[in-house]
Amino acid sequence: MHPSAFLASLLPLLAAASPLVERAGGPASVPVPASCAVINPLPFANCGSSNVDGYKPNPDFVTDHLLYQAYFTSGQSQAEDAQQCKEQCFGYGNPGQCKSSFIANQVPTPKGYYGTKGGQLETGCLLFDEYLSPLDFISSKAGRYVNATATDIYCSR
Ligand SMILES: *[C@@H]1O[C@H](CO)[C@@H](O)[C@H](O)[C@H]1NC(C)=O
Repeated sequence: MHPSAFLASLLPLLAAASPLVERAGGPASVPVPASCAVINPLPFANCGSSNVDGYKPNPDFVTDHLLYQAYFTSGQSQAEDAQQCKEQCFGYGNPGQCKSSFIANQVPTPKGYYGTKGGQLETGCLLFDEYLSPLDFISSKAGRYVNATATDIYCSR
């Protein structure tokens, strides 16, 4: 095999193996086994639009079911951010404790986050102890909650 062809054949493997950048103090990222089903419950997520903008989990759902939240300026791709948020859900606490995750860009930090007054627009990853359904989302202000990905993780254990 020509060396460059060999390298090209390796590239997808290298890309798949590229480690996610862990954030200090967050749940560890644990890959979701293929035997689990992962669905995206965002409105219109399965209607051919790759980016879902302008929906946030409703505040009551967040109050009742939030396990963990992190807001950050990401140094990796959106796909990697989304993968990490999903895998942190899978890695959170006891098996099956985290049932869904939500990540988007342009998410305002909540009031009191690390003692701040909030409202800073960051990439936000939220983990929940309940499944999200399309009915758990409400519209956000324009320009917020951009390029969102939500996941419900179903595993038989
Ligand atoms: C949303 O994603 C698109 C590419 O899919 C990108 O061009 C755009 O900058 C992203 N917007 C934000 C606010 O992340």
